[in-house]
Amino acid sequence: MARRKLLMGNWKMNKTSAEAKEFAVAAKPLAKEARAAHVDLGVAPTYLSLATTRKYAAKTMIVAAQNCHFKESGAYTGEVSIPMLKEFGINWVILGHSERRAYDNETSEKCNAKIKALIANDMVPLYCVGETLAEFEAGRTKEVVGEQVRKGLEGLSEEDAKNLVVAYEPVWSIGTGKNASTEIAQDVCHFIRTVLKECVGKSANKIRILYGGSVKPENIKAYLSCPDVDGALVGGASLKIESYTELLRNIK
Ligand code: 13P
Repeated sequence: MARRKLLMGNWKMNKTSAEAKEFAVAAKPLAKEARAAHVDLGVAPTYLSLATTRKYAAKTMIVAAQNCHFKESGAYTGEVSIPMLKEFGINWVILGHSERRAYDNETSEKCNAKIKALIANDMVPLYCVGETLAEFEAGRTKEVVGEQVRKGLEGLSEEDAKNLVVAYEPVWSIGTGKNASTEIAQDVCHFIRTVLKECVGKSANKIRILYGGSVKPENIKAYLSCPDVDGALVGGASLKIESYTELLRNIK
């Protein structure tokens, strides 16, 4: 079964609401183009820009949050819950990004609780995994990534996992311009699919695996030509409508 391609922009801590609105409006015409090319398009603004982006973006544009809490409500200062996101029509959440793992103590165990809560709410978790430069240089990529996948998906059934999306983002390639080669991307994404099979059986063939890390309009096509890479999670190059448009056109 063919998996639909996915282009997801992760805006990180960029764009005010006014800037997000400007992008959403400018990106509206891309929806038709994406649909014709069987590509799903998305962006992940900050919490504060989610409502504005959702309001002005094309209906088919995925608008994802960059995090969520696993509890519905309670004494968790500074956190945002899943029902709060749902209220604004937000159905996708990025989890386990390496920046959150590095600076905010986001662990695979915490991601597991969030993934389960999202699935219980019929939402789509986009779960990020990836090794650091030291781990890469020590030849520990598969050990690290395998553990992140197994812990993140612990206790999920085949049915639970059918809408999950996984992103492989080697930490050493994020924002550095040092791309992982397509050979590395394919090898690790294939390995991730093997681990997914172990964890959630046949759903592994439906799960989209994205590559992320210095993806640009010039290199996106090469990644997408890898059999186990179904899309891209893009930081810097997703911020300007011009390069986002080029990413879409080059993915096709
Ligand atoms: P860059 O595309 O800026 O390297 O960021 C990748 C990333 O972290 C996306 O989540």
